[in-house]
Amino acid sequence: MSTCVFPILIAGARCYRAKIRLLLVLICPLAFGTEQELGERLFFDKKLSIDGTPLPRNAPTLLNVADRAALFHDGGESNLDTRAITPLLNKREMANPNPATLITRLSYDYQSAFAAIKLELSIENIALALAAYERTLTAKDTAYDRWHNNQQPLSPSATIGFGLFNRHGCAECHRTSNAQFTGDLFHNTGVPTNNDLGRFAVTKDPALTDTGSAPPHCAISN
Ligand code: HEC
Repeated sequence: MSTCVFPILIAGARCYRAKIRLLLVLICPLAFGTEQELGERLFFDKKLSIDGTPLPRNAPTLLNVADRAALFHDGGESNLDTRAITPLLNKREMANPNPATLITRLSYDYQSAFAAIKLELSIENIALALAAYERTLTAKDTAYDRWHNNQQPLSPSATIGFGLFNRHGCAECHRTSNAQFTGDLFHNTGVPTNNDLGRFAVTKDPALTDTGSAPPHCAISN
């Protein structure tokens, strides 16, 4: 958290005009505090994206993404710190033709903010700041967590559901040893692939293919 109250009030009022920002950075370099605060600003900034077309997969949740060993539905990436570079440059996602064009477009708004935290404005550092923000997206105080930590009982219906979940094999894959209900493994669930090769596209191993599924859940969106 920034230690400067004045800039926080201004940020709270969504007063993010570049000139004011520059002034604030001069008055108080902590105005943009941390990499993580900068990452949050970048995360919501539409300027990062030029274009985009519907993708064949739903976006996976970012909640607790810092705990994931494999990223994307197909595990095609593993490093959160560099992961944001792909969508920034992917033609179907944010469609920036190259890093230089992106940096030129962002430099007026972000040059001084990056300088304030002693980082060069580069696509690598944009990805790092985004990752710092993404690490804050956690859901760790759920009703399940509180029950798991012996702090609070589960509701009667959730207790019945949890019993069914375990009895009917859900927990074989959605492991209950962590509150995120994943074993971080890939399974062929036998649902139609809609031409999405899933895990096969990454491993070329059909035995590990992570197939798609019907809407509104899972990887395939149509
Ligand atoms: C063989 C392993 C396996 C078993 C058993 C299993 N699942 Fe899954 N489940 C998966 C996989 C893999 C996905 C992701 C599929 C995808 O993204 O295409 C998934 C996805 C889901 C989703 C969607 C999650 C999301 O973010 O959209 C739900 C909900 C779900 N499972 C619930 C259950 C329940 C309830 C059971 C028990 C009745 C169960 N699963 C049994 C492997 C399994």
